[in-house]
Amino acid sequence: MSKDHEKRLSAEKALAYVEKGSVVGVGTGSTVAFFIDGLADLRHDIEGAVSSSEQSTARLRALGIPVLDLNAVGTVPLYVDGADECDPGNRLIKGGGAALTREKIIAEAADRFVCVIDAAKQVDVLGRFPLPVEVVPMARSLVARALVGIGGQPVWREGVTTDNGNWILDVHHLRIVDPVGLEARINQIPGVVSVGLFARRAADEVIVAGQVRSVAM
Ligand code: 5RP
Repeated sequence: MSKDHEKRLSAEKALAYVEKGSVVGVGTGSTVAFFIDGLADLRHDIEGAVSSSEQSTARLRALGIPVLDLNAVGTVPLYVDGADECDPGNRLIKGGGAALTREKIIAEAADRFVCVIDAAKQVDVLGRFPLPVEVVPMARSLVARALVGIGGQPVWREGVTTDNGNWILDVHHLRIVDPVGLEARINQIPGVVSVGLFARRAADEVIVAGQVRSVAM
C-alpha cells in the first residue's frame, strides 16, 4: 500500500469522529488535506472549522467550509492532525509543515486529539525526524546555541517564514527518551515560540493506515 493510500485511509476513518453541529479543529499537511476533502461532504452538518494554518484555511474555504476564530469558539470537541513521528505513547513530533505553533494551540483547546498517519511515521523513540522549533527571528543564534547545549544539531530552515512571522530550526541527532522533559526544557529557552514535541499534550488516539491504534503506555 502506498503512503498516500495509507494517509487517505486514516483521514477517512477520522471523519467518523466528527459530530453533527460541532466545530472541528483541523491540522496541516498532506494527510489532513484528505481529511479536509472528506469534511467538505459534511459541511452542512458542522458549524465550521478552526484552522491551524493559512494553507488549511485556503483549502477549507475553497471547499465551502466556514473557518472560525478559536477565540470565539473556546474549546473544540475534536482536533484532527497528522504527525511526522509517533511513539508508542502517542507522543509526536510535528512541524514538518512549519505549522506547529497553531497546531499546538488547537491541540490544547481540543477535548479529543485524533492523529492520522501512515505506518512509516511510527517509531519506538522520537528523534529520527529532525525536531522543529519555531523561534523569534532575532533569537535564532541564541536558541541554536542552547539547542547544541542539550545535544542537538540545529539547522535553520532557510527561506521558510511561519504563518506567525517566525523562523524554524530543525534539530537533528536527538534521541528523545524523555519527551515531556525535553519539551519543557526547550520551551524555557528565551526566543522559542514553540517546539514540535507534542508530549505533555499527546494524541488521544492515533489512526495508522485506517486502523485505530491502542495506546501502549
Ligand atoms: C505540519 C505537521 C504535519 O502534520 C506533519 O508534517 C505531517 O504531514 P503529512 O501529513 O504531510 O505527512 O506537523 O506542521
